[in-house]
Amino acid sequence: MAGQRSRPGSGDTPPADKARRARELREQLEYHNHRYYVLDDPELPDVAYDRLLRELEEIEDKYPALASPDSPTRKVGAAAPRTFSEVVHAVPMRSLANAFEDAEVEAFDRRIREIIELEKGEVEYVAEPKLDGLAVSLRYEAGWLVQAATRGDGRQGENITQNMRQVLGERTSLAGNGVPAVLEVRGEVFMAKEDFLEMNAAQRAAGGKTFVNPRNAAAGSLRQLDPLVTARRPLSLFAYALGEVSGGDVPGTHWDILQWIRGFGLPVCDLAERVRGVSGCLDYYHAMRERRDSLPYDIDGVVYKVSRMDWQTYLGHTARAPRWALAHKLPAQEEMTVLERIEIQVGRTGAITPVARLTPVFVGGVTVSNATLHNRDEIMRLDARPGDTVVVRRAGDVIPEILSVVMDKRPKNAKPFEFPDRCPVCDSDIVYEGEGVVARCSGGLFCDAQRREAIRHFASRKAMDIEGLGEKIVDQLLAAKLINNVADIYHLEKEPVAALERMADKSAENLLNAIEKSKDSTLGRFLHALGIPLVGEATAEGLADYFGDLDPILEADAETLQQVPDVGPIVAQSIHTFLEQDHNREIIQRLRDSGVRWPRAQRQAVRADSPFAGKTVVLTGTLSMARAEAKKRLQSLGAKVTGSVSKNTDYVIVGADAGSKAEKAEELGVTMLDEQAFRELAGDGD
Ligand code: IVH
Repeated sequence: MAGQRSRPGSGDTPPADKARRARELREQLEYHNHRYYVLDDPELPDVAYDRLLRELEEIEDKYPALASPDSPTRKVGAAAPRTFSEVVHAVPMRSLANAFEDAEVEAFDRRIREIIELEKGEVEYVAEPKLDGLAVSLRYEAGWLVQAATRGDGRQGENITQNMRQVLGERTSLAGNGVPAVLEVRGEVFMAKEDFLEMNAAQRAAGGKTFVNPRNAAAGSLRQLDPLVTARRPLSLFAYALGEVSGGDVPGTHWDILQWIRGFGLPVCDLAERVRGVSGCLDYYHAMRERRDSLPYDIDGVVYKVSRMDWQTYLGHTARAPRWALAHKLPAQEEMTVLERIEIQVGRTGAITPVARLTPVFVGGVTVSNATLHNRDEIMRLDARPGDTVVVRRAGDVIPEILSVVMDKRPKNAKPFEFPDRCPVCDSDIVYEGEGVVARCSGGLFCDAQRREAIRHFASRKAMDIEGLGEKIVDQLLAAKLINNVADIYHLEKEPVAALERMADKSAENLLNAIEKSKDSTLGRFLHALGIPLVGEATAEGLADYFGDLDPILEADAETLQQVPDVGPIVAQSIHTFLEQDHNREIIQRLRDSGVRWPRAQRQAVRADSPFAGKTVVLTGTLSMARAEAKKRLQSLGAKVTGSVSKNTDYVIVGADAGSKAEKAEELGVTMLDEQAFRELAGDGD
């Protein structure tokens, strides 16, 4: 048969390799369906699943003999596990056909116009976000929720009535007039992004199970055997379609149905819109694509639905999906790629961050080749090993991160990553802080990496602002041993600088001029430039404002430092520890000696006549002004504001919902002031 190719068609015998591949794909898809729908623990990102499904669809299209009736291309989801009782859906819960390209949307619209024989004009569609959660069907009889079910395999799902009652709260009965005798509403249960982050943080703190994304969190939370667990999870619902309805006046368009459902008190997404024709659909798609990252919940596409219900009925459906609807997918925010190696980065303050170097992959609209691995615990939690295939997520401007490892694809010889116990740059010990999560190189300024980052930071725009002292020159200056620390910058001489590679007389002169110019600084910038751990620009400005000059800061103890607005005990301790070190004091002195200066500010005059002068005050509960503002106000009146009530406390200012501090004050007999009394004493309204 060499050179002869069979023409594909329904009568053709499929080639053996295609039959084998179809079998393989079917097995893989069944496996991944089970992980996704039953275990709520998918191994593949959606795009990788979709690719497998598409490949199978193409083979089956070409060789219909290979299309078994139970193929994953013909059904949705996976059979329900045994833990919940089963519910047979009165009307099957179908899936949606997917489109990835504009051309597929055009083909969808063309086909519809052909079937309904619409020669002129445009079809009216309702465009809605495609919510990334899980589909549920809610059955109301005489307005009462009698049953709730998951989609399962589309024909039968799990009975999750008790759990859904927890999600719905008071919406377990419908409101308004004209509630039909039987009303099945379909919708999506999901978790808002913020709720997801909060829940995961709480789960982590309690040593519980965390989820890789909001969709899995929603699925895992809804399918809990104990409804009280579901009750504690922040789940939301948007309704978007109907199932069985009897004894009611169902509106004639999908648009009106959405409003009808909303009228019964059920939540409907307010981003749904009526659009006309392909151009209306595509405009909506692009607008949603822009807004995606700022929406409070994850969406993975938009859905177009023919609005007229008589047309929907006429168009009907295939085994898997209706012909009147289409899901237009947004670019995937999760993709698979290979973790080539793990590198350790050392930051300015010695913080050690593991970074994943990836085989470049297009995800979230850009090519990604690095992702953060956060810390040692995260690598252990993921069990990420060089050579592994991993799922990366990139959403918005957030640094890409690794969500999970595809264990199935782990190479046989993959070795667990050994987190170093010595700094890869200077070989000093790595020490752990913050319950062992934050790793830090203990080398301080011995560590070239820290020294280099410290100098770059010192010269940066928001610090001493030395123009021209960028990354490359800093490296050259360090390598040539012309500088060792930030104080050396002000002792540089022209000749050796001009002798550096790619430097000349002129550029050396420019650099020295910029260095000279930077001496005229401000106290805030100078403090920021020192690179004190936990002291950013705002805190540095706060310190400068409060103290007015450097010497009182050098003399201040940790408690005094806490008088600065927004400086708590941890930051105060960090400042104090830094300024106590002899080598830091020496550098500060050298900087001052070489002429670094700032205008001295008069410390804010304290009203000696105020009733708060010299008093120790504690704030508790919620006030109408921000806590920091109240603190500032008190300080300007000469008070010392502290965090805990003791017998030395003069006043406790009690806001709404005050707790134990108010009780303690009562116990110790400390004078308590409510907000109004505080304002009066403070002379507000004078
Ligand atoms: S309509 C018969 N509308 O996407 C059509 N589905 O991939 C019923 N989904 O099973 C679905 N947002 O879980 C519809 N606005 C929306 C949706 C939506 C998300 C989900 C739903 C469905 C799946 C299909």
